[in-house]
Amino acid sequence: MYSMKKIILTAWIGTTLGAIILIGVSIFLFEEIPKDFYALMVVLILGYLPFILIYQYLSIVKQRFLFLIITYIILGLVLYLAPYIGHVIFYFGLIYAALFKEKIYFVFSFLISIVIYTAIIYVHPIISLYPFMEIVQFFVFLSYTIFLYFVSKMMVRQEKINSMYTKTMEALVLAIEAKDEYTRGHSTRVAEYSIILGKTLKESGFPVDLEVLRISSLLHDIGKVNISNNILQKQGKLTIEEYEEIKKHPVFGAEIAKSLEFPDEIINPILFHHERKDGKGYPNKLVGDEIPLLARIISIADTFDALTTNRSYRRAYSTFEARNIILENSGTQFDDQLTPYFIDCFPKLKKRAEQLIELEKKLSKVMDEEVKALH
Ligand SMILES: [Fe+2]
Ligand SMILES: [Fe+2]
Repeated sequence: MYSMKKIILTAWIGTTLGAIILIGVSIFLFEEIPKDFYALMVVLILGYLPFILIYQYLSIVKQRFLFLIITYIILGLVLYLAPYIGHVIFYFGLIYAALFKEKIYFVFSFLISIVIYTAIIYVHPIISLYPFMEIVQFFVFLSYTIFLYFVSKMMVRQEKINSMYTKTMEALVLAIEAKDEYTRGHSTRVAEYSIILGKTLKESGFPVDLEVLRISSLLHDIGKVNISNNILQKQGKLTIEEYEEIKKHPVFGAEIAKSLEFPDEIINPILFHHERKDGKGYPNKLVGDEIPLLARIISIADTFDALTTNRSYRRAYSTFEARNIILENSGTQFDDQLTPYFIDCFPKLKKRAEQLIELEKKLSKVMDEEVKALH
């Protein structure tokens, strides 16, 4: 969603740029700035100032209406001071109305533009009314308004789909985290570490799509919803059969992602996040570069989180110990092309890990206390 702050900033930068261009053009054409340009400059550069000063004190709805009113007053003044610029500038108000994505702002914007436009034509000493041209222009303006309205409607639809996508994901993550207290927060932490490493790799030219990485790392263990609680929450060592059962989670996860019609670029990292560089991983025993890049990134982030958090069978390692364990297994379990970048971003990972683990501890404490209070 567009915040009012961003919109004002764009509007203000836009009008200021307009002023600079006018100065440039007038110096180029007239070799000096004509007198009536000064008023125009003041309107363009300072026009939004009153709004900037007061908007925070208004409700969002009032902010939007007032913003549109001020925009049209500025546009009207510009038309008055520089009639040769033409009423095309009135389209700007509509573009801003499109950002608010509701019919009401369009209708309001359209009406207020007509009022201000008509007012300018009547009070202006030079501009006179040519009814035929005005009607033609009115219909051009009207069709432009309708066109923008549909564009903004499409944008709203797309946003809704995106948020459904996000909500489905959040529900899936909650489902998996609810199953096992030892892995609570695991998915979100792995996603954060993956993004830190992914960004570092991207800056060095690796083809990392950060949004795809974020989704696939969040969902990497989603297949665990199909594994029985007895195995997931078992204290102590797993039997061979139980371990074989757990090893099915990447395949289950990929199936879930497929049934939700996620694209292959998201499904594959989920399916292959337990593959190893030396081919000893699962489920497909892929070797080296056969493993998708995002799966190799998630594999490092996954292990880093597993090592730095408490498990039912051992205490957490420090971030530094975890770093060394990952380095020792570079080239066998982990991709040795990626581990140098893991070392590069280790300070960031360490800092974030410490914050997240601390947060998790606080959360557990609050939850424990709530449970106690219930008894
Ligand atoms: Fe996993
Ligand atoms: Fe995991």
